[in-house]
Amino acid sequence: MTGRSFAPRLGSEGSSTGRALDGPGKECLLDGPDVFFRGVVEGMRCGIVTVDQEGCVLTVNELAREILELDTPVEAGRPVRDVLARHPRLAEVLIDALEMSQLPNRAEMEIRSREDDGRTIGFTISPIVAEGQQHGVALFFKDLTQVERQEEQERLRDRLAALGQMAASLAHEIRNPLASIEVMATLLRRKLARCGAGDDALVSVEKIAAEVARLNQTVTRGLEFARPIAPEMQLRPLAAALDEALAEARARFAGSRVTVERSYEAAAPNVEHDPTLMRQVFTNILVNAYQAVGETGRIEIDVRPVARPERQPGAVEVVIRDDGPGIPPEVRDKIFYPFVTTKEGGSGIGLAMARKIIECHHGMIDVAVGERGGTAFTLRLPVAVDHGQGRG
Ligand SMILES: Nc1ncnc2c1ncn2[C@@H]1O[C@H](COP(=O)(O)OP(=O)(O)O)[C@@H](O)[C@H]1O
Ligand SMILES: [Mg+2]
Repeated sequence: MTGRSFAPRLGSEGSSTGRALDGPGKECLLDGPDVFFRGVVEGMRCGIVTVDQEGCVLTVNELAREILELDTPVEAGRPVRDVLARHPRLAEVLIDALEMSQLPNRAEMEIRSREDDGRTIGFTISPIVAEGQQHGVALFFKDLTQVERQEEQERLRDRLAALGQMAASLAHEIRNPLASIEVMATLLRRKLARCGAGDDALVSVEKIAAEVARLNQTVTRGLEFARPIAPEMQLRPLAAALDEALAEARARFAGSRVTVERSYEAAAPNVEHDPTLMRQVFTNILVNAYQAVGETGRIEIDVRPVARPERQPGAVEVVIRDDGPGIPPEVRDKIFYPFVTTKEGGSGIGLAMARKIIECHHGMIDVAVGERGGTAFTLRLPVAVDHGQGRG
């Protein structure tokens, strides 16, 4: 990216490193070992920080600056505690490592980050030894946050697949007796009417039939939610799915005087997604927003690009905000679970389905409630779905 880091300053300029390269013609081709090694270090697909025996930073490569969110360029020879002021634990580990004989290998650590809740890095520290002498230590690390999220999602997918199978067989077991109950209730109603039973008895039988119908609907929705989905991906602007969803939500609330303000950044790249499924996600959220704001509220929709560290392809973020009363505190932690609803006649499936669809797009969905009401749903979708990214 921007800024320069500095070359390893091992021994006398290029003494030990230079020898390995001293083949005829190689040095002139590569403009000297210093440039060559700087290129190697900069281009490595893991973050590298080297520290000399005095605890001063010698090298910080590009990926290290990105993951640690350091302001570039990093000045050569500054104490590691200053350079890593935002990551004091990491600085201490490096300073301790200068004195240790057993250095951390494949260890993990939580570090702070500006945007997310924090990051997890996986790291190894090696001594820098040249000509029989230790000159400092080198930290090699990777951002595991993405990998951890993926593992979590895989676990969730496995759980959902198992749940789907269970739901399908449960639905079968429930629907058959429900159908019999419905038939029996209808017969009973006829018999009662024929033998001149009172209204009370008829009302009771009708209640049974109504409850049966409701249960049937719940089972059908549950089955719909549990069924695995197979997205058909297309590379398209998310804004298109959003506008279609908005048109659908507007049509459902025709006559309402809700103000909808859209702010779509033109720089937002196309995103690989299933347009029908994503439209369903946005419709579910927008319908909730319309229901929350009432007749004259306000809904804002923002779309913006998000750069990802570690040369990952970027993401697009969508925020749907409303100035309604906010999510009732008693359901705040559970709104993405199926059947959680505070609405008369609500299904409680909308947000559960939204999360399921977002997760099968390898994205994320989150909600924030303002102190004085108002709700904001944030969705992030990676520009391209990365199939099979491994740790290490
Ligand atoms: N924009 C919003 N403002 C306030 N509450 C909301 C909003 N969106 C969702 N909720 C809460 O989350 C619950 C679950 O939403 P959802 O899954 O769509 O089911 P349903 O809309 O059928 O209730 C709602 O019943 C409501 O309590
Ligand atoms: Mg809903």
